Amino acid sequence: MLIKDLENIFHETLDAIYGKQEVSSFFFLCTEAFFNITRLDLALNRIISITKAEQQPIFNALEALKNQKPIQYIIGETEFYGLPFKVNENTLIPRPETEELVQLIIDSNLERNEESQLSILDIGTGSGCIAISLAENIKNAQVYAMDVSAKAIEKAKENAVLNKVKVAFIEGSILEETQRNLLFKDLKFDAIVSNPPYVRNLEKAEIQNNVLNNEPHLALFVEDDNPLLFYKAITEFASKNLKPKGQLFFEINEYLGEETKALVDSFGFKNVELIKDMFGKDRMLKADI
Ligand SMILES: C[S@@+](CC[C@H](N)C(=O)[O-])C[C@H]1O[C@@H](n2cnc3c(N)ncnc32)[C@H](O)[C@@H]1O
Repeated sequence: MLIKDLENIFHETLDAIYGKQEVSSFFFLCTEAFFNITRLDLALNRIISITKAEQQPIFNALEALKNQKPIQYIIGETEFYGLPFKVNENTLIPRPETEELVQLIIDSNLERNEESQLSILDIGTGSGCIAISLAENIKNAQVYAMDVSAKAIEKAKENAVLNKVKVAFIEGSILEETQRNLLFKDLKFDAIVSNPPYVRNLEKAEIQNNVLNNEPHLALFVEDDNPLLFYKAITEFASKNLKPKGQLFFEINEYLGEETKALVDSFGFKNVELIKDMFGKDRMLKADI
């Protein structure tokens, strides 16, 4: 079969679900992942022959896309902050809004980069996207990353190797006070960052089915009656484990900006600031100890 015929099958099967442009982009990602044929190769020549044995993975991908499985899980990788990340069903697919959080941290720390080694902790690291991007872009930083999911930590470790950065990974729950005190005994940080689970069950109706059916609920959801439990535990922990002049950074639920700010204020943090994302929604919070 020729690659141009495969491309036609992709469009015939998927355009009605995703639209032509997105299907073209899926097709290029698949040919690159399965055949090592780039978008540029395809632009130059679509008369490439694919043997029957080689076709199986791309037909499996087509079937998965028909069932609305995210392309990132199908090809097993994505890009975040210009870096490659392996992902699977145990790790949330990193979002563009989170790239903005990384940018905010890099910008906030720039002045101090030359002075001394910064110590940074990422809580709920998932694929490791925040921790690894910071380790890559803040050269003198010692980065720690924790997650309750052993399987997520496994992927994050793979991603640190892939991106050739050093991150210390710690498995544990930030909600367990005794455990977190033990795990981080004697460790103090210049910056603590987290994009914790923050979607309330009542917001499930707004979540697309491809997210609901594929991404880990452990990474996404909190109970309606206690939506800020992660923010409370992390802020309490940060109030004790940040160095003087240390900073706290959160990605937040757009509907709970004022409540999250009030919570962080109540722990005595200064300059507590809500920051909007590219869509104009309250998405980040920054505070000084
Ligand atoms: C919204 S995801 C963020 C993942 C990644 N940092 C990102 O920005 O794409 C939240 C992460 O918190 C982790 N998590 C859930 N409960 C936790 C707990 N009790 N302690 C530590 N991490 C937890 C989940 O496994 C998940 O990886």
